[in-house]
Amino acid sequence: MRIWTLLLCIGLALAGTSDTPTSWTPGTPAANTAQILTPVKEKVELPVWLAEKITGPTLVWYFNPNCGHCQASIGGVVRLAEQMEGELQVIGLANSGATPAELKWFMDTYKVNFTLMIDQPRGFSYTVGARSTPTALVFEPDPAGGVFATDAYYPWFQGAELLVKIRRGGADPFSHFEEDRYVGNTACSTCHSQEAASWNLSHHAVAYGTIYKQDKTADPECVSCHVTGMGEPGGFVMGEHGHPLADVGCEACHSAGGPHDGKTVNAAEQCESCHNKTHSIAFSVDKGLPHIDHYKVNSMSAGDQEKRRHDLANGKAERPLLAFPHGENLGPKDCKSCHAEAVQAWSKGPHASAMDLLKGKEKKDPSCVSCHATAVESGPPPATLEGFQLEASVSCASCHGPGAPHLASPDKESIEGLGEDCPVCVIEAVCTSCHDPEQDPDWDLEKALAAQKGHGQGAGPGAALPKTDAD
Ligand code: HEC
Ligand code: HEC
Ligand code: HEC
Ligand code: HEC
Ligand code: HEC
Ligand code: HEC
Ligand code: HEC
Ligand code: HEC
Repeated sequence: MRIWTLLLCIGLALAGTSDTPTSWTPGTPAANTAQILTPVKEKVELPVWLAEKITGPTLVWYFNPNCGHCQASIGGVVRLAEQMEGELQVIGLANSGATPAELKWFMDTYKVNFTLMIDQPRGFSYTVGARSTPTALVFEPDPAGGVFATDAYYPWFQGAELLVKIRRGGADPFSHFEEDRYVGNTACSTCHSQEAASWNLSHHAVAYGTIYKQDKTADPECVSCHVTGMGEPGGFVMGEHGHPLADVGCEACHSAGGPHDGKTVNAAEQCESCHNKTHSIAFSVDKGLPHIDHYKVNSMSAGDQEKRRHDLANGKAERPLLAFPHGENLGPKDCKSCHAEAVQAWSKGPHASAMDLLKGKEKKDPSCVSCHATAVESGPPPATLEGFQLEASVSCASCHGPGAPHLASPDKESIEGLGEDCPVCVIEAVCTSCHDPEQDPDWDLEKALAAQKGHGQGAGPGAALPKTDAD
């Protein structure tokens, strides 16, 4: 039994190699396609009661009626059976411990449209070495007697039905792509392994985790941009935390099913549907593209990759997009003439005296000063003390960005206001550049905003702020 040579799917997904190129030439085919499309025929000894049912191409889907993954992926198998009727027979084979009552429940609950049977002890699963559910194999009768296995999915996953169709597509493997139906990254990754490994190192791969940590997964206002295809066919379903379309996956930019059904979608035109004016300060496609480089993985050592994944999971990976635009950081004295009350309120708050917390040598240590004082210019924290404005501690520009464009044209548009119309994404990013998990483990945005007394009046987000001379 050499069934393992058939393994098509999972293992390949994260297999980026180091001698691959670092930029893309349009038209280059995806790395693993040939491997995925290579026909395989492996002779298998099935139990007789099953072998006699293999009268034509047959997918045997081995499952446990009580297993969550089986329940989550049965929908795709039902659709596969429907679409490939006449071309591919589907048989559902439950684990030998399942009861007829469980089988009936499963059939009714999931509207199963194909034959369900129960495996026998030392039966199918023993023969093919299926140790977990769901698992699936495709068989064909051997004209000379017995059966061949042609595909093996250990495990079966949501979206694997796409691969079954591709492998049965013959000369036109992509002819079976369903228009406008999401399949999930795993299916794409079997052919596009390097792109998948690079994606895995991007913020898009943790987008759902970000709102999960904030306990916002029940708020559709937050979920829509932090997942793929919410509410659309095959797309993310609210509340299913393990759903394959959680996070901003391939199809968020490349459209459902990818660009294989003849239509072309310009991925770069999709960015701004999520990176809009309120959710991404000063986003531009040109600035964003280098950070989602699909070849990133090829120029990183295994150690660097591991560190990057760790930083992403812990919310410590840098966010180049959320950095303020480059410019001189103006301070309280430049703002006072128009915002006297805001300046006064700030001067009484914790940020205006943040440098006082540092003792002796700490006051000269850029690694402390970087969060306790505002730099002379926006951008990455300076390495030397001369780069900071020490006397003002954490002042206006640390939260509102460099002020020159605002002084040139003083209105709401020319500066980051952090008020009611500013989504939490942005405010959180500004504050947590200093209030990170290490320095402020108990950080809570709502409490912090309220405690910061909104420049004077105990105001939280949206509360009225002191009127300024300019009003
Ligand atoms: C069976 C292998 C296979 C699978 C699965 C697959 N692709 Fe592809 N993909 C290819 C091949 C081969 C090409 C190059 C030829 C072409 O454009 O059709 C390609 C090209 C592409 C391109 C570039 C098109 C261009 O030239 O601009 C994108 C983007 C893409 N795939 C995205 C996806 C996404 C998203 C998925 C999952 C929904 C996916 N692919 C699934 C094999 C695959
Ligand atoms: C479906 C919505 C969506 C689309 C489409 C999208 N993004 Fe994002 N992007 C996000 C979300 C959400 C995050 C934040 C994820 C997190 O950190 O939790 C993000 C984060 C990023 C980041 C890292 C954050 C930072 O501050 O540096 C970059 C870079 C980025 N996106 C670039 C792009 C580019 C370029 C495109 C278009 C080619 C794009 N995105 C398309 C939703 C989207
Ligand atoms: C945030 C948006 C975004 C996401 C998410 C994304 N891509 Fe892309 N992808 C792009 C853009 C933009 C390009 C075109 C690159 C360019 O023009 O420089 C591209 C190019 C490609 C190409 C063709 C060139 C190449 O680099 O190989 C393939 C194939 C591809 N993507 C596959 C994938 C797969 C597979 C995934 C998921 C694992 C994925 N992409 C996730 C935006 C995205
Ligand atoms: C010449 C007067 C003037 C000066 C100087 C000035 N501002 Fe303003 N500022 C305004 C006006 C006018 C508005 C718009 C008020 C409104 O529409 O409610 C404003 C609004 C703001 C807002 C709110 C933006 C929003 O989206 O709600 C912030 C924050 C702000 N200024 C910060 C600063 C900072 C920091 C400085 C010093 C670097 C500064 N301002 C200097 C006149 C000024
Ligand atoms: C990443 C930003 C950051 C860096 C770097 C940083 N701090 Fe802080 N520090 C903060 C923040 C935010 C607070 C307020 C946290 C709170 O109130 O829980 C704080 C509070 C403090 C406090 C008062 C609260 C306490 O924990 O006792 C002291 C003292 C302090 N920092 C000293 C230092 C010293 C010394 C260094 C250099 C070794 C340093 N900080 C580096 C962000 C930083
Ligand atoms: C620690 C971060 C932080 C610092 C430092 C800071 N601000 Fe603010 N500022 C905010 C936040 C957050 C808001 C929105 C507050 C709210 O709505 O409760 C805000 C709101 C404002 C507004 C809006 C008032 C309006 O018209 O709605 C002005 C003006 C302003 N700040 C000016 C300043 C000036 C001037 C300084 C420097 C003296 C300063 N801020 C320093 C965080 C900060
Ligand atoms: C219109 C799309 C969109 C919506 C709606 C949205 N986000 Fe985001 N969110 C983004 C994008 C894009 C980014 C990445 C911004 C960047 O880095 O430039 C992001 C980033 C974030 C971040 C990371 C910022 C950080 O520094 O940690 C958090 C947290 C976040 N969003 C939470 C939320 C919450 C909570 C909601 C619901 C109130 C929400 N988002 C609604 C698009 C959206
Ligand atoms: C440039 C770094 C920096 C930024 C950005 C920043 N803070 Fe702070 N914050 C500090 C430091 C340092 C302290 C400690 C100062 C002290 O206690 O005197 C502090 C203290 C505080 C405190 C009082 C201490 C506590 O934990 O109760 C609150 C509240 C607070 N910050 C809220 C915010 C909010 C809200 C934002 C975003 C709008 C923000 N901060 C942005 C550095 C920063």
